[in-house]
Amino acid sequence: MSNFPTVRLRRTRQNEKLRGLVRETHLSVDQLIYPLFIAEGISEPREISSMPGIVQWPLEHLGREAERIVDLGIPAVLLFGIPAEKDEVGSQAYDAQGIIQQAIRRLKAETPDLLVITDVCLCEYTSHGHCGLIHNGTVQNDESLELLARMALTHVEAGADLVAPSDMMDGRVGAIRRTLDEQGFSSTPIMAYSAKFASAFYGPFREAAGSTPQFGDRRAYQMDPANAREALREVDLDIAEGADIVMVKPAMAYMDVIRQVRDRCNLPIAAYNVSGEFAMIKAAAQNGWIDERRVTMEVLTGIRRAGADMIITYFAPDVAGWL
Ligand code: PBG
Repeated sequence: MSNFPTVRLRRTRQNEKLRGLVRETHLSVDQLIYPLFIAEGISEPREISSMPGIVQWPLEHLGREAERIVDLGIPAVLLFGIPAEKDEVGSQAYDAQGIIQQAIRRLKAETPDLLVITDVCLCEYTSHGHCGLIHNGTVQNDESLELLARMALTHVEAGADLVAPSDMMDGRVGAIRRTLDEQGFSSTPIMAYSAKFASAFYGPFREAAGSTPQFGDRRAYQMDPANAREALREVDLDIAEGADIVMVKPAMAYMDVIRQVRDRCNLPIAAYNVSGEFAMIKAAAQNGWIDERRVTMEVLTGIRRAGADMIITYFAPDVAGWL
């Protein structure tokens, strides 16, 4: 039953001022987190062919990039390390002199106000490219926990403001929380990659981070893209283990999951607008097929509307400039 012509929704769409008054969702630079790749053993920034405008940074150039990010008003970065040496057990991941630990110390010394969040996962550091320890061809859950907790601890000792476990081992949030609390870091928040799906959208990231699994895939630990109820169980578990922020990743194909998590819990939610989502927009825009700025703003607004409080996105500097 329609109330037309009494009711006319176009009345509040007539001009930008009116549209501004009735706008339900806002995107602000305060909500953006910018991922940074820091590589050991390079002297110049190295381009990532599938992620136009994104590079691997040498430690020596990090300071200048951090200043640019601060000047743009972006509050936080998410760090990924690419070590010169990888081994079976990912030793560089939890070495106090590892590339990420050095990067954290440098960032906190030079740009102390920039929040440093670190990705906690072994895949960039293991020769086999999996996110945990391998025995008999399978990723071992419980044995990986101790290494992940050590990794998180070295990040926090180096000055990281938050740690973000992305490995998808069961129990890792609790293991990290206990270790941090025991070592005197009870104030450091954990941003848990709670609902992380085994996604083809991570393709360009694996070029950026050099973390493609050398055998098999990640489906035995990352989630099946078909499962939303299970995503809520992951979120519940991470909350019970002490997560301060929960994440849904990727974002675009999982907006229903973001919404369900939002309706279910009162924790802050992060959404990760991943490498493949970035690459698709860049590629179509480079072909002149879509308007990069409008499509990007529409996607990020959609992620906010779905219920995310904060968005991890490679578009952060572009968006900061546009806003
Ligand atoms: C590490 C990790 C990955 C991403 C973030 N942390 C890759 C993976 O799980 O294979 C993907 C981020 C992106 O695609 O932008 N486990």
